[in-house]
Amino acid sequence: MSEQKPIKKAVFPVAGLGTRFLPATKAVPKEMLTVLDKPVIQYAVDEARAAGIEHFVFVTGRNKGVIEDHFDIQYELQKTLEERGKDVAIEILDGSQLKAGQASFTRQQAPLGLGHAVWCARDIVGDEPFALFLPDMVMQDEVGCMSRMVDLYSRTGGNIIATEEVAWEETHKYGVVEMGNDVEGGFEVTGMVEKPAPGTAPSNLFINGRYILQPEIFDILENQASGAGGEIQLTDAMITLAKQQDFYGFTFTGRTFDCGSKEGFIMANIAFALWHKDMAEHIRPEIERMMREIKPIG
Ligand code: UTP
Repeated sequence: MSEQKPIKKAVFPVAGLGTRFLPATKAVPKEMLTVLDKPVIQYAVDEARAAGIEHFVFVTGRNKGVIEDHFDIQYELQKTLEERGKDVAIEILDGSQLKAGQASFTRQQAPLGLGHAVWCARDIVGDEPFALFLPDMVMQDEVGCMSRMVDLYSRTGGNIIATEEVAWEETHKYGVVEMGNDVEGGFEVTGMVEKPAPGTAPSNLFINGRYILQPEIFDILENQASGAGGEIQLTDAMITLAKQQDFYGFTFTGRTFDCGSKEGFIMANIAFALWHKDMAEHIRPEIERMMREIKPIG
């Protein structure tokens, strides 16, 4: 096994506007909407922690200060819970805190695109490979997607992109990879296409929002022109980086829910509720009843 530089830092771009959830996201960042009992952003942070990440870099924007508060210590609440002997609640609270010095926050001053948001983290990440999480993409599996990617990275080095199977007729909605030779636990990536025209996708594996990237991506992003939608696109920069460095794909076999969309958000809530045995017993029959009885009104 070759020695790779370890992945110790993770970047979480959370500066998007969240217009698809207005008015809910007028004062509350979309990353703080809850899937079951945790805010969306905490799913990504927990996944990062489980993968051995030690420093958490949040690229935020205006009105996102509550994300910083969420991962901080909540002194008054903690003290009250201690006085009342609420051990379970204290444990839950502990699980949502990042240790002093473990988190950095930087602002993307204008929403110029995901690529630009990642570039804003360059000085905090420095000259080392890093994990990148799109927090909207909430994943359900017993082993986290990033843990599996770090495992693949320990054998291959380079850059890693997580992918997931999607129906061929849906590929035009996603960034899709082209597959090369297999490697143990993954495959070589020989190309990437953002939203391929119907019938032209090189595979049915879409890029599902988890990456391990080498720091050279920052130099490319620095000079990256705006792409689709007038935004600085991460995929465009990765296509350039792939001409200089190896990229490997990992196929996630759990489920990813795009909680940046209402449909994905609802499905994530149902999926996580069904994962809890006690809750599943109550809601499964109710969901079945609703499916029989409730008809669309508009
Ligand atoms: P989206 O494409 O979901 O955009 O961003 P959005 O603005 O957040 O949401 P809508 O479309 O208006 O509802 C994908 C990811 O990239 C981040 C978002 O926070 C999200 O995690 N992002 C996007 C930024 O951090 N900055 C940007 O300029 C754009």
